[in-house]
Amino acid sequence: MHKEVSRYTLTAALPYANGPVHIGHLAGVYVPADIYARYLRSKGKEVLFVCGSDEHGVPITIRARKEGVSPQEIVDKYHKIIKNAFADFGISFDIYSRTSSPVHADTAAAFFKTLYDKGEFIEMETEQYYDEQAGQFLADRYITGTCPVCGHEGAYGDQCEACGSSLSPTELKNPKSALSGSAPVLRKTKHWYLPLDRYEPWLRQWIVEGHKDDWKANVYGQCKSWIDQGLQPRAVTRDLDWGVPVPLPGAEGKVLYVWFDAPIGYISATKEWAAARQTAWQPWWQDEKTSLIHFIGKDNIVFHCIIFPSMLKQHDDFILPDNVPANEFLNLEGDKISTSRNWAVWLHEYLEEFPGKQDVLRYVLCANAPETKDNDFTWKDFQARNNNELVAILGNFVNRAVVLTHKYFDGRVPQRSALYDIDEELIGELAKAPDYIAESLDKFRFREALARYLELARAGNKYLADTEPWKLIKDDKERVGTILNLALQVVANLAILGEPFLPFTARKIFAMLKLENQGWQAGGSIDLLAGDQEINKAELLFEKIEDSVVEKQLEKLQNTKMENQAQQAAPAAQKAEISYDDFAKLDMRIGTIVAAEAVPKSKKLLKLTIDTGIDQRTVLSGIAQLFSPEELPGKQVTVLVNLAPRKMMGMVSQGMVLMVEDADGSLRMLVPEQPVQNGSTIS
Ligand code: 2FM
Ligand code: ZN
Repeated sequence: MHKEVSRYTLTAALPYANGPVHIGHLAGVYVPADIYARYLRSKGKEVLFVCGSDEHGVPITIRARKEGVSPQEIVDKYHKIIKNAFADFGISFDIYSRTSSPVHADTAAAFFKTLYDKGEFIEMETEQYYDEQAGQFLADRYITGTCPVCGHEGAYGDQCEACGSSLSPTELKNPKSALSGSAPVLRKTKHWYLPLDRYEPWLRQWIVEGHKDDWKANVYGQCKSWIDQGLQPRAVTRDLDWGVPVPLPGAEGKVLYVWFDAPIGYISATKEWAAARQTAWQPWWQDEKTSLIHFIGKDNIVFHCIIFPSMLKQHDDFILPDNVPANEFLNLEGDKISTSRNWAVWLHEYLEEFPGKQDVLRYVLCANAPETKDNDFTWKDFQARNNNELVAILGNFVNRAVVLTHKYFDGRVPQRSALYDIDEELIGELAKAPDYIAESLDKFRFREALARYLELARAGNKYLADTEPWKLIKDDKERVGTILNLALQVVANLAILGEPFLPFTARKIFAMLKLENQGWQAGGSIDLLAGDQEINKAELLFEKIEDSVVEKQLEKLQNTKMENQAQQAAPAAQKAEISYDDFAKLDMRIGTIVAAEAVPKSKKLLKLTIDTGIDQRTVLSGIAQLFSPEELPGKQVTVLVNLAPRKMMGMVSQGMVLMVEDADGSLRMLVPEQPVQNGSTIS
């Protein structure tokens, strides 16, 4: 889709202010968004890059209750930590706002009221759980009970974490309120719903047909599958005392659903930014020549591609996102990053422990970004990329060019004379670099862009190694002048083209060269530095990271693991005695997985086809977070084959794959020590 663009509104997902930001957030959202914002600015585009804290929602009230403070105190604390950490890390937001601000409350309420006045909402009365002791309706997360699917006792009102089934609170057996522990009662309550089903034809046309080619495959695929499954009306209000009050008479005690108000936070932030500058906010959201791009993680896709655009569309005077380049998730040392298990590298801690090394983390997170699939962050890889790429290639090249200029030419850029083939080759590569890197950035392929950028530093390094100016200096100073002139022009280009990725490093290089950043368009030139121009002394860009540093980080994680295990309850008590006959009723066999696929709308379940030796059957298993479907075919598993068939997520599971639960709650498959024939029984 080609349109004339005169400005860009870039948004980065508003992080929940119920905990600090970690490397998963950075790699998924903020590093790519910042690279893109800086790149566009470098190209001279008009850019507004907005973000802020998402300060509503049930998780914040839960955290406040746990810590015995008010929700406002929680969000004040984390908003400050997050805002400062982003600033120190060089994330170049034009504004970092927050959704507990008055301008947001007004903006979100007005948005709701406009849709209400247009008759866009359906009003529905339903029965919801109410805690009579606490005197309030219960959010899904505030209700626990026994899972109707697997019998797990601590299932939540919206999901069972043991088997992955999506639930509604009324499906739970023996429901209990997390507020008072009492059994909740059903009470009638009225809410407003956004009729997504009505927008289906439009969504199909806009996304399925309109964005087939320009949205990332993971984003497009998720949207299409949501639309294909049929959309349902979504409640956009809640019975809660924390949030933006529903601006209607008779709606006391009700607030806007956090996912209704949060994306409007992008607009409120824009208003706040514009007000401070006494300019208009509207062009950034209402002018057809503005390109709106949302940077998010994959768990936010439905909200940014389906729900928020539907809200904007019905409001009728907003532009829609041109692209939503969502990333997948980053794991840490092979395990899912988890705030509650403290399994993370926290940005504010990194900044304290690695002062001045913002660009190292930016580099590693971009080089290893989970762009098309989940990826793993390891401290070994962090060290290797720093030592072998930043130090050995980029840092080494810049340092050599600057040091040799001081050594042979008193710190003045030497003049160029006759050019040889090897020079022309370098000049050719340099000339192509801006477009070559931009081509990747324009497609939101940040890893590829960074790799292409590093190719230029590599070429510079190779040029010095091949021309060996340190050997020529005795006999041919003029030739050395040409070589160093070109090398320094490459260094200047590395600063210009590297600024979006490595802003701190770029700033240092510009200072070394006594050069201003003239923007992306100046890239590719061999005349950035004039002959005889004075430059500053070499400043260290990167330093080697020693094993001991990495070991210390790994130790820290190991301690977290041990703390988590210590916090686990003692092993479950032994169950009541059974007879051998009871045991013999269980028909457990070894089978081989022949096919595996994801189950739509379930984060935990995979649909497995298993050759049990008796037959091939479908078994649904809660292992989606342990394995991706592609890696399962061929693996042997233990199956309880005579378990009565059970319906889950609209499918029938004929058996159960046996799993072991580790002390930290993680699940492992139970497999024979050596492959055996399918159908072999367990006794
Ligand atoms: O997933 C999250 O962390 C949400 N707080 C993202 C909100 S994005 C936007 F809609 F505000
Ligand atoms: Zn369950």
